[in-house]
Amino acid sequence: MNTRFTGIKLGPPIEVFALQKTFVDDPHDNKVNLTIGAYRTNEGKPWVLPVVRKVEKLLAADDLQNHEYLPVLGLDAFSEAATSMLLGPNSPVIAQGRAFGIQSLSGTGALRVAAEFLSRILHYDTFYYSIPSWENHRLVFTNGGFKQAREYTYWDEKTRSINLEGMLNDLRDAPENAVIILHSCAHNPTGCDPTPEQWTKIADVIQEKRLFPLFDSAYQGFASGDLDKDAYAVRLFAERGIEFISTQSFAKNFGLYNERVGNIVFVLTDTKELVEAKSQLTLIVRGMYSNPPNHGARIVATVLRNPELFEEWKDHIRTMSSRIKQMRVGLHHRLLKLGTPGTWEHIIQQIGMFSYTGLNEKQVQHLRDNYHIYMLRSGRINMCGLNESNLDYVANAFNETIKLFQEEQNDCTC
Ligand SMILES: Cc1ncc(COP(=O)(O)O)c(C=O)c1O
Repeated sequence: MNTRFTGIKLGPPIEVFALQKTFVDDPHDNKVNLTIGAYRTNEGKPWVLPVVRKVEKLLAADDLQNHEYLPVLGLDAFSEAATSMLLGPNSPVIAQGRAFGIQSLSGTGALRVAAEFLSRILHYDTFYYSIPSWENHRLVFTNGGFKQAREYTYWDEKTRSINLEGMLNDLRDAPENAVIILHSCAHNPTGCDPTPEQWTKIADVIQEKRLFPLFDSAYQGFASGDLDKDAYAVRLFAERGIEFISTQSFAKNFGLYNERVGNIVFVLTDTKELVEAKSQLTLIVRGMYSNPPNHGARIVATVLRNPELFEEWKDHIRTMSSRIKQMRVGLHHRLLKLGTPGTWEHIIQQIGMFSYTGLNEKQVQHLRDNYHIYMLRSGRINMCGLNESNLDYVANAFNETIKLFQEEQNDCTC
């Protein structure tokens, strides 16, 4: 019998969540999850940051807290503190009143609202994302009203680093007002960021060609352990007087994944459009989800605005980023010791949560089928899935798999 819903086509699965489910259902004792982008301790457990726990207890005991609606654009205390964290406490654009932030539903929600604002209010219709990029950029921007999705070169497979000339050429060819999505630090999935000199060249082209930069800041502090270092690119653009939007996620750096804490920062040349811009954003949010949730934003605001808690949190981000660095060194060291074919410098050179290993789809499949090691088809691994207990197992599995495929290639008479 046909119903109104008959004929709906099955959408493709979202790789990262599908793999997560297969992993959970896998009964194997030594299974390793290197897929989903979430921090894990050396014991392989999720980590509630102690400062977050502390503030949650304070809030729970505070009778002045309630569950009233927040304003449409969220908690001012949160978005002001988040904006200052991104642009710097002494940022001239903040002092001049040319920057403001609004609370959003984590980084994804920030991107979605930004996309709708850019497409419906500024009438921009083309966006560019890096190849490769976080797989959701395309979907979010298309759903946000953009008509033209285009790619720019980013990764050089051979050198396992940025193809800057390719990137700049693609940007030079972009039409005026094209929105260029840039990862402000810890590029996902490659873990490879432009150097300060390369950022200057990127800013030059963006300025010359009158393109619109949109920074996606999902890993500030988490990448290097240093908030200022990870905000280098965003602050460079602000200093150069370039107008832009930056989205911010507090999922990784605060471990607040399911609380959906995000912010959208707008940097304008002139303060006179600020009220109008906010009024349009209010309508976009009102028509989408009406207003954001309180809990996570309240935690982040409390921590960022209290010097003692802020120092405690900065200690936590150093703990997370240095554990990741240790895992990079550990994996690199083991692969070299095992004599694994290929070069592995990129494992220690890349930054942030992910490593783009260079393993191909067949090798990834082999690792899953034979060793119960789960990673994305692209060869991206979440470094946090590694720990002292599974490093040897993973390095051995990589080594055996790579050697096996190399032998198969050598045996091939075709
Ligand atoms: C590059 C990038 N942008 C944005 C996000 C959005 O994350 P969330 O919506 O959980 O804040 C992620 C999450 O993995 C990401 O890697």
